[in-house]
Amino acid sequence: MVFDIGRFRRQDVILQISPLTPQPVRRGRMAVEAVTAVIFADALASLVSLYLTPRYQNGDFTASHPLSSCQVFTNAAREREKSCRLVPDEVNADYGYIITTVPPAPQMASSIAIVTGGGGDIGQAIALKLGATHDLVVLVDIDEAKTSVALDRLGREKFGMQICDITDGEQVAEMARLVLSKGAVRTLVNNAGGTRAFSLHDMTPEQWRDETSLNLDAAFLCLHAFQDSLKQTRGSVINIASVNGLSVFGNPAYSAAKAGLIHLTRSIAVEYGKFGIRANAVAPGTVRTAPWESRMKANPDVFRDVAQWYPLERIVEPQDVANAVSFLSSNEASAITGVCLPVDCGLTAGQTAIARTITQSDHY
Ligand SMILES: NC(=O)c1ccc[n+]([C@@H]2O[C@H](COP(=O)([O-])OP(=O)(O)OC[C@H]3O[C@@H](n4cnc5c(N)ncnc54)[C@H](O)[C@@H]3O)[C@@H](O)[C@H]2O)c1
Repeated sequence: MVFDIGRFRRQDVILQISPLTPQPVRRGRMAVEAVTAVIFADALASLVSLYLTPRYQNGDFTASHPLSSCQVFTNAAREREKSCRLVPDEVNADYGYIITTVPPAPQMASSIAIVTGGGGDIGQAIALKLGATHDLVVLVDIDEAKTSVALDRLGREKFGMQICDITDGEQVAEMARLVLSKGAVRTLVNNAGGTRAFSLHDMTPEQWRDETSLNLDAAFLCLHAFQDSLKQTRGSVINIASVNGLSVFGNPAYSAAKAGLIHLTRSIAVEYGKFGIRANAVAPGTVRTAPWESRMKANPDVFRDVAQWYPLERIVEPQDVANAVSFLSSNEASAITGVCLPVDCGLTAGQTAIARTITQSDHY
């Protein structure tokens, strides 16, 4: 196969063809067995589409001798390499290629954090915090409009989103496939959750299934989808449980599921510890988030009324949960696995009202 070097010059672009490494540029005809084209250009920006015409000599230029790769350097500073796409020229399909520079292949992220329910209030706070320690944070949520707004707020460079119903195994598998094409997952935060059914008396079997499916089963599906990557990164899983998983505060299906989630956390810690994977749960008390809006409408003082049951006399903010998640995902917690950390302003530590009644002491 013969290339006419002169034909390859265009403006300040010099093309050099070599079977192995860059050679000094020579003018004239040069017979090569080349499969690699190396292009030096002063202004890469102008090198958008370079027309490379191989000449025939003694036979056919066919697919048996195609250019198989191409590298592009700047003349001034050869340290910068751009990848290059070889596209058969449709007009001169028999003998032409259009060489088009393409942006460098995106680097695979070495540390991705997944936050399910990332479009919600706690999910956004967690995502923002994990953005400081991960290459990429992916918000996985069923609500596209809400998550898109969240992403605008967080910034699309470091944050991404995947719309997925995490109770559906097939959707979770597809979501994981798309995420893993971007890199390796180091942190999985199973945060999506919620409840609508307040008591056993009012609960239908469908509601029971829906709430256990979202608050427990989905965490198992996500673990399965990302476990290989977590093994690779020796990463960690953080499950957002609730004080409802530790004591009874209403919402029985949700509470049973959260209790199950805390136990699932221990199971992951024990079974996956040998792969360097840690698993911990965070159990928030009342957090000021959107799901409380209907209760706020019914009672505008609901947060003040609830706060009186908390030893710290306040409720939890999304940021408080995010801080705990950030700590548990970090190396600072490298010896901590299998725990459930209440972030509850002291709710599960004990009740001042009971302590006062029992002791008859004003100190409570
Ligand atoms: N807010 C509280 O008082 C409180 C207290 C304790 C625990 N929690 C827990 O914190 C977590 C976050 O709650 P929040 O208050 O931020 O609620 P939120 O409603 O603001 O966020 C939950 C997010 O999960 C998403 N989601 C719901 N179903 C989904 C599904 N099938 N697939 C994918 N995404 C789905 C929702 O679209 C939403 O964006 C939940 O697990 C919740 O149980 C909240």
